Amino acid sequence: MKLWGGRFTKPTNELVDEYTSSIRFDQKLAKYDVKGSLAHVAMLKKCDIIPAEDAEQITEGLKKVLSKIEAGEAELSEADEDIHMNVERLLIEEIGPVGGKLHTGRSRNDQVALDMRLYAREAVSELIVLVKSVQQALIGQAKANIDVIMPGYTHLQRAQPVLFAHHMMAYVFMFQRDVERLEDSLKRVNKSPLGAGALAGTTFPIDRAFVAEQLDFDGICENSLDAVSDRDFVVEFLSNGSLIGTHLSRLCEELVQWSSAEFNFVELDDSYTTGSSMMPQKKNPDVAELVRGKTGRLYGNLIGMLTTLKGLPLAYNKDMQEDKEGMFDSHETLKGALQLFAGMIASMEVNKESMYKAVSNDYSNATDLADYLVNKGLTFRESHAVVGQVVLNCIQASKYLLDLSLAEFKQYSDVVEEDIFEALKPETVVNARAAAGGTAKNSVLDQIEKAEQLLESSDVNKV
Ligand code: ARG
Repeated sequence: MKLWGGRFTKPTNELVDEYTSSIRFDQKLAKYDVKGSLAHVAMLKKCDIIPAEDAEQITEGLKKVLSKIEAGEAELSEADEDIHMNVERLLIEEIGPVGGKLHTGRSRNDQVALDMRLYAREAVSELIVLVKSVQQALIGQAKANIDVIMPGYTHLQRAQPVLFAHHMMAYVFMFQRDVERLEDSLKRVNKSPLGAGALAGTTFPIDRAFVAEQLDFDGICENSLDAVSDRDFVVEFLSNGSLIGTHLSRLCEELVQWSSAEFNFVELDDSYTTGSSMMPQKKNPDVAELVRGKTGRLYGNLIGMLTTLKGLPLAYNKDMQEDKEGMFDSHETLKGALQLFAGMIASMEVNKESMYKAVSNDYSNATDLADYLVNKGLTFRESHAVVGQVVLNCIQASKYLLDLSLAEFKQYSDVVEEDIFEALKPETVVNARAAAGGTAKNSVLDQIEKAEQLLESSDVNKV
């Protein structure tokens, strides 16, 4: 008979069992479920709700059940619906009817909310560490290539030269926001719902704060209805994960472009690329493409969860069982991507010459010519018009700005002097942008220092 079979006169239709049970996927929660039950039973004992000997038997029994589940020796059944009832049945099989005391003052509704919070807490902490490893790899590339100049783009048109390190650091700060968002979310994840019961609380003299402390929570969910129906922390996890996915995906796109023959800015290490079954010459950036592609499922999981929650009345509804697969999937997807990314970035070769050639063979120093003329007394508008003319004539003559002679420059404006040649060199152009946050070497070195401090000051180890 089912644990809840008392008021039924017929067995459940098999298809119903199959359709409503969650054991296929929520067995992943076994260790959190047992951890929560251990804290719960310790509280039942402390509050004299069940006799100490019973609590001790239950504690030992739960530990055995978990080790059997983890060793694959426990038989998990669909008829028992979910991990919570499977654990309870296994416990009763292990220690006899006394196991039936475990569920005193508790419901699966507060239990599942607890399990998901414990899962989320660990997943968030794990992702923080992994995002940081990607940041470290990016900083490593920035430092190793601190003098490398590349074209900076807007509209994917060459705009102004930048340091390659500056470009790497842009992603470091992007990922820093992800780390901060994850850290911040822990404040909301780390509250204990246990003791909310099915929805209204419990008649037993329980001690919620004691359970919360046992499980290293920062406190309890204050309202029992909210405690069992809140999945905001799942939405936040999926949303933070989606943004990490967005950031990874943008970088993937750059890597795919940069590693093409057309750009030839970087070479991904052989160990992070794959070949073609037909074209022997191919070396494909599959990892970058797949990480970019998997961003779709991260968004899908987020939209799925939001849609599931939308319109649900308080308190628990079975719909909420749909929180799990998306959460697990986004967690695994991100974990896989971040683990690969750290190594792929760290092992990437930067093609300094190609980047320099791209910077030299374009007009990305045109702004600097305009600024030069302003410094010599023209208004910015006059100077913009003059430089536009220079660039147009150069394009028609297949020349770049640095190919012009002083005499040619002077035809456009007689304020131009010999120092123009120094002013238009990529190195000068880059280092002229020396204000905070700019691409000059000193500014980028400051950014690196700042980022390294931020990475160290994180408080993830607290959880
Ligand atoms: N398997 C359920 C879930 O994942 C656990 C809670 C079930 N509660 C209930 N009253 N049916 O949401």
